Amino acid sequence: MIRVRFPDGQSEAERAVRKLPWVVVTQDPGILALEGEKNHDEDNAAIQAALRSAYKKKWSDPRSALFQLVSIETQAGCNASCGFCPVSRATDPRPSGVLPMDVMERIAANLADLEYSGRVALFGNNEPLLDSRIVDKVRMFRKRLRGVDLRLLSNGTLADVRRVRDLFEAGLTTLTLNNYTDGRSLIRPVRDLLASAELFVDHDVRVSVRRRDEVLTTRAGLAPNKLAPARPPPMAFVHYRSATCIFRTPGSSIPAASTPMGACPSVELAIAALRQSGSMRD
Ligand SMILES: C[S@@+](CC[C@H](N)C(=O)[O-])C[C@H]1O[C@@H](n2cnc3c(N)ncnc32)[C@H](O)[C@@H]1O
Ligand code: SF4
Repeated sequence: MIRVRFPDGQSEAERAVRKLPWVVVTQDPGILALEGEKNHDEDNAAIQAALRSAYKKKWSDPRSALFQLVSIETQAGCNASCGFCPVSRATDPRPSGVLPMDVMERIAANLADLEYSGRVALFGNNEPLLDSRIVDKVRMFRKRLRGVDLRLLSNGTLADVRRVRDLFEAGLTTLTLNNYTDGRSLIRPVRDLLASAELFVDHDVRVSVRRRDEVLTTRAGLAPNKLAPARPPPMAFVHYRSATCIFRTPGSSIPAASTPMGACPSVELAIAALRQSGSMRD
């Protein structure tokens, strides 16, 4: 079954998809959560309230202390350039590299030794379908770990019908495609998959139609189109690794001066000195 989630429910593409056989349009976040539905303060509070004690209990029992999710980035890099993503091809500074098959085999063997039966996500901060051996890797994991929930998350640009069939035949459990466009239209490979949806009635394919210019979380400050911070960065801070106090002049993000920690006994004193010299706003 292919399930598709549109963000607003108004587009022509959505109306067309609703008419297709073997395709279901869904708004169920349990199946496909949109980024905006994750990482909220309320979610974190709910996790603290509802899950923390349950997990504490679970993990204190040595028989059930095993992790439930393993994520493996089989090949670095991406072929897309989403505005919010630190690994878009426009911004990712990492060299490309492939995790060799023998390393993957060792991981699978170790997990099999542990009788692992949780989820294995064969992607990380990358585009997994760029890996020309991804089908082989899925097959190898399925062979060694019969009971795992084996998943891929992809931007769908390389998800042609044949390859998707091969992935499921190799043992994939779920394929989720992020269709990054203007949030209303579908990319060609997704249109082709939907037109062949009958082939996937017994499989779990999910499509999320998204805007490639969304503004998401900052990813530790690395996201390229993150919102500017609500407050300007501080005028003075301690850089612990180099053990220096660093001063910044107002309106500039470039450090203007630094002094060794020894000459700057505390941040409070440094701030007081800066305030006195008039180069520090409250
Ligand atoms: C890095 S992608 C890897 C898989 C594939 N390339 C894709 O985009 O579906 C994994 C997830 O990270 C999310 N992501 C990327 N940058 C993000 C950011 N700045 N904040 C939150 N999520 C982000 C993407 O939207 C996607 O759902
Ligand atoms: S979100 Fe996914 S598709 Fe978009 S640039 Fe990042 S890794 Fe590539």
